Amino acid sequence: MIDFTLTDEQKNLREMAHDFAEKEIRPVAWEYDKDGTWPQDVIDKAWEVGLMNTHAPEEFGGPGLSFMDGTLVEEELSWGCSGIATSIGANGLAAAPVALGGSHEVQKEYFTSLTERKTLASFCLTEPDAGSDVSGMRTRAVKNGDKYVINGSKCFITNGTYADWYTVYAKTDPDAGHRGISAFLVRRDDTVTVDKKEDKMGQRASNTATITFNDTEVDARYLLGEENKGFKLAMMTLDRTRPGVAAMATGIARAAFEFATEYSKERVQFGVPIAMHQAIQFMIADMATKVHLSRLAAWNSAVLLDQGKRNTIESSHAKRFAADTAMEVTTDAVQVYGGYGFIKDYPVEKLMRDAKIMQLYEGTSQIQRLVIARETLLPRRVEAPAAATA
Ligand code: CAA
Repeated sequence: MIDFTLTDEQKNLREMAHDFAEKEIRPVAWEYDKDGTWPQDVIDKAWEVGLMNTHAPEEFGGPGLSFMDGTLVEEELSWGCSGIATSIGANGLAAAPVALGGSHEVQKEYFTSLTERKTLASFCLTEPDAGSDVSGMRTRAVKNGDKYVINGSKCFITNGTYADWYTVYAKTDPDAGHRGISAFLVRRDDTVTVDKKEDKMGQRASNTATITFNDTEVDARYLLGEENKGFKLAMMTLDRTRPGVAAMATGIARAAFEFATEYSKERVQFGVPIAMHQAIQFMIADMATKVHLSRLAAWNSAVLLDQGKRNTIESSHAKRFAADTAMEVTTDAVQVYGGYGFIKDYPVEKLMRDAKIMQLYEGTSQIQRLVIARETLLPRRVEAPAAATA
C-alpha cells in the first residue's frame, strides 16, 4: 500500500521544526540577510533543541532520524530561512561519508564530536577548477608512513570558516582520474587556513569559504572507505543529501507561495483584490502544484534510502525539480507583488535570491539532468551499500 500519511511522531517533529523556524529563524532572517551576519545564536539553539545532526545514530548520542524525517525538518527550517537552515544542516553533508566509510571507532569519535559539543563540520569536494567535474580536482594526499599529507585548496565550502573538522577529497593517484580520489577526515589545526569568505547574492547568513590545506597531516585510520574509492563515496553521499536539498527548496517555494497568496488577497487593483483576477489565480495554482510535487519527490527519494534502496535517479529528479520550482515560484511571487516585490522592504525579494543557489549547490540542475539522462539511457547496477562498506 502507498501511504503518504505522516505518523504522530513525524507530525510532532514537523510541528517542532516549524515552531523553531517561526520563533527563532523568521524574526531574524531578513536582518541577518542584510549584513550577512553569522547566525551562531540560532545554530546554538537548534543544537540545544535537537534539530542539528538529525541523522547521527542514537548509539553516538544523535536522534537517529530517518531520511524521511530529515526532509520534514529541512523543509520547515528552510521555510524560516534557507541560509540559516543551510548552516544548521551542513553537518549532515560532512558526516554522511563518515557513516558510509568510517570504521566503528572513527564513526564514534566523529559523530560524538558533533552530538556532545556545539561543533560544525564541512564537506570539502569543490575546487576552483573542479566543480561539476569532480575528478578534475588537484588537491593531493601523499602517503608518508602511517600518515597522509594533504595539500590543496577547496572553495565554496559551507560553514568552512567555523568548522572543527572537514571531510576532504584528494587525489591519491593523480593519473587515475575518478579512480584516484580518496576521502579523509581532517581536524582543523594551524596548517588549515581560511582564505576567503564569499559575499553572496543569497543565503547570506550562511558561511561559504575557501579552505586551504598546507602540508596537513592525517593519520591513515581517518581514510574513509578504501584508498582511491573516494569518488564513489562522494556520489553516494550526494545521493543521500540531495533529498534534503529538495526539501529545503520546497521550503523556500512554500514560503514564497504563502506570501504571494496572502498579498494577492490584500492588494486591490481594478476595484477588487488581485486574487480575484484569473491571471493571478493561475499563477497561485501553478505555485501550489509545484510546491506539492516538489515535496512528494523529496519524500519519495528519502523513503527509498530508508528502505535501503538506491535512489540516484530519484534524488536527482527531486533535487532538480524542487530547485527549479523554488526559482520559478519565487520569481512568480515577485511578479504577484508587482513593483513592491522588487523592493527589499517586502519578503519575496530575499526568497528569489536565496532560491538561486538551490539550482547550483550539491550538483547544478544541469548535472541532475545529466544523471537522470545517464540513469535512463544507461542504467547502472550499483547496489545500495551497507553502512561502513563504501
Ligand atoms: N553511486 C555509486 N557510484 C556511482 C554513482 C552513484 N550515485 N554515480 C557514479 N558512480 C560511479 C560510476 O559507477 C563509475 O564507477 P566506475 O569507476 O566503476 O566506472 C564512477 O562512479 C564514475 O562515474 P561517472 O562516469 O558517471 O563520473 P563522471 O566523472 O562522468 O561524473 C557526475 C558524474 C554526475 C557529473 C558527478 O561528477 C557529479 O555529480 N558532479 C557534481 C558534483 C557536485 O554535486 N558537487 C557539489 C559539491 S557539494 C556542495 O555543493 C555542498 C556545499 O557545501 C556548497
